[in-house]
Amino acid sequence: MIRSVPSSNAPRRRHYLMCRPTYFAVEYTINPWMDPDVGVDRDRAVRQWKALRELYRRLGHRVSEIAPIEGLPDMVFAANGGLVVDGRVYGARFASAERTPEGPAHLSWFGEAGYTRTREPKHVNEGEGDFVVLEEVILAATGFRTEAAAHQEAENFLDRPVITLQLVDPRFYHLDTALFALSERQIVYYPDAFSAGSRRVLNALFPEALLATEDDAAVLGLNAVSDGHNVVLAAEATGLADRLRSLGHAVHPVELDELRKAGGGVKCCTLELRDTPD
Ligand code: ARG
Repeated sequence: MIRSVPSSNAPRRRHYLMCRPTYFAVEYTINPWMDPDVGVDRDRAVRQWKALRELYRRLGHRVSEIAPIEGLPDMVFAANGGLVVDGRVYGARFASAERTPEGPAHLSWFGEAGYTRTREPKHVNEGEGDFVVLEEVILAATGFRTEAAAHQEAENFLDRPVITLQLVDPRFYHLDTALFALSERQIVYYPDAFSAGSRRVLNALFPEALLATEDDAAVLGLNAVSDGHNVVLAAEATGLADRLRSLGHAVHPVELDELRKAGGGVKCCTLELRDTPD
């Protein structure tokens, strides 16, 4: 069991990788949120994304950027580009052909940025979209994108235990749409996104976790980023925001509804580089 109290900790400075939505579009459908007939306002997407980047900077975090690539409209969702733990980079291997080039693009970025311990993955995995890193364990999902075999691969390479969870609701196709780390030892999740067995695992490991409602989940409120104290989340997730405030967290609501048309939110835009020497 993972002890979690207190919920709100001192904020820890983070280093994030983001990708400007210069070529953002909804041109194909690889999750139920994506309807190519709806049309996106790219300028608005860029404005919303910039506001998120500025917020991270105001909160004291460092933001690095990977250059967007024309023809890769989902590349704004940098969280899927890899998984970085203790400076080791486990590369991504996308489930869909449309996003496949994003994996090597991220690995090249890491190489150029001076990361030497990188791993090209054998198994399909969509980076931090399906892995949530905590102090003692890494939670990992399978069911829609990432293969369970990738959990083993990550565990061996990153040298941290990985717990496999099964996602069952297609609206919540990545782990980071259904669960986020409030601190290194505390999580928030929407139980119905998981199989009965996985709900038992989560309940046994995190008896003090915060359980989110369907309303919170349906606006991608679980696709949030916390530094231990500050929580950045979708403006529409008002119920969850109130609960977090009552626990002592500083809540920072952001408008990202343009990117939500592709099924992504705050966390999807944010890949944490766990290498900042504080
Ligand atoms: N359209 C993208 C996809 O379906 C959205 C990815 C969102 N990223 C995330 N980390 N959940 O792949």
